[in-house]
Amino acid sequence: LSAFHAVTGLVFGMADILPCRSSAHAVSIHADELIAWFDREGRDLPWRESGVSAWQILVSEFMLQQTPVARVIPAFERWMERWPSPASLAADSPGEAVRMWGKLGYPRRALRLHAAASEIATSFGGVVPRTVEALRSLPGVGDYTAAAVAVFGYGERAPVVDTNVRRVLHRAVLGAAEAGPSTTKTDMALCESLLPDRPLDAARLSIALMELGALVCTATAPACSSCPVTGACGWLAAGRPEYAGPPKRVQRYAGTDRQVRGKLLDVLRDADEPVGKERLDIVWSDDTQRERALAGLLDDGLATQTSDGRFALPA
Ligand code: ADE
Repeated sequence: LSAFHAVTGLVFGMADILPCRSSAHAVSIHADELIAWFDREGRDLPWRESGVSAWQILVSEFMLQQTPVARVIPAFERWMERWPSPASLAADSPGEAVRMWGKLGYPRRALRLHAAASEIATSFGGVVPRTVEALRSLPGVGDYTAAAVAVFGYGERAPVVDTNVRRVLHRAVLGAAEAGPSTTKTDMALCESLLPDRPLDAARLSIALMELGALVCTATAPACSSCPVTGACGWLAAGRPEYAGPPKRVQRYAGTDRQVRGKLLDVLRDADEPVGKERLDIVWSDDTQRERALAGLLDDGLATQTSDGRFALPA
């Protein structure tokens, strides 16, 4: 614990961050309580083990973008065994990346990860870049993923703001019912203002904020009785205001083009060589929807057609 930077009670003028609030109001977070809580309660996940590489962080963050932790763990372990470095993935075909992506869903992520690995191999000497700016230039890497790799992979100091972090900040720090639908520059500035000066302490607070949002300060059932920062929580102080906005749309999967694309891709993934059209035609009876899904896969580069008219994963 001696390594902790004591930042409890760090106080910032609200006027610097949110001009709509009075400057008499201040924002703060109990950073060392939060970090101590994470050390006790944080999940042991493969990408949190000591000594993980920035490449491991990059792969895990691509996988975690739209897939729950429990489904990512085995896919991540298989991936790292096969491609322990960006160069090893870049040396293989994009189609192999799509095949290994398996059933994680949203398979364009596999193509983007392959493209990022190729860019790292050719433009960065095979080393995952360290700065948020350089990371941001890679295919498929947005503000969140760039910050996550810089912070969790290299111990840089930067705001890592995902949905969970945003919710914690809006509730605990600002006393609001919910965060907005997407990350704003104000969210990033607010997060940055709360980070301890020392990069490694800032990184630990970042992962603790994220984990608090995932395990305790959840969207629909916040477990305030298990929360380490209730003493400083603006949402509790405000009487736990309910979110008054529209309910989230539940994403349907059955019957969508996404499902049909998944079925077509399953056939290509399970085949060792290009398959004839008749093998694809049997996975879905609605011709129009099936043709549209196949055209979409070809268009996205997730499938290719051979000169003799058969279909395969991209070479
Ligand atoms: N640890 C680091 N990044 C994470 C994420 N996106 N989801 C869950 N745990 C993480």
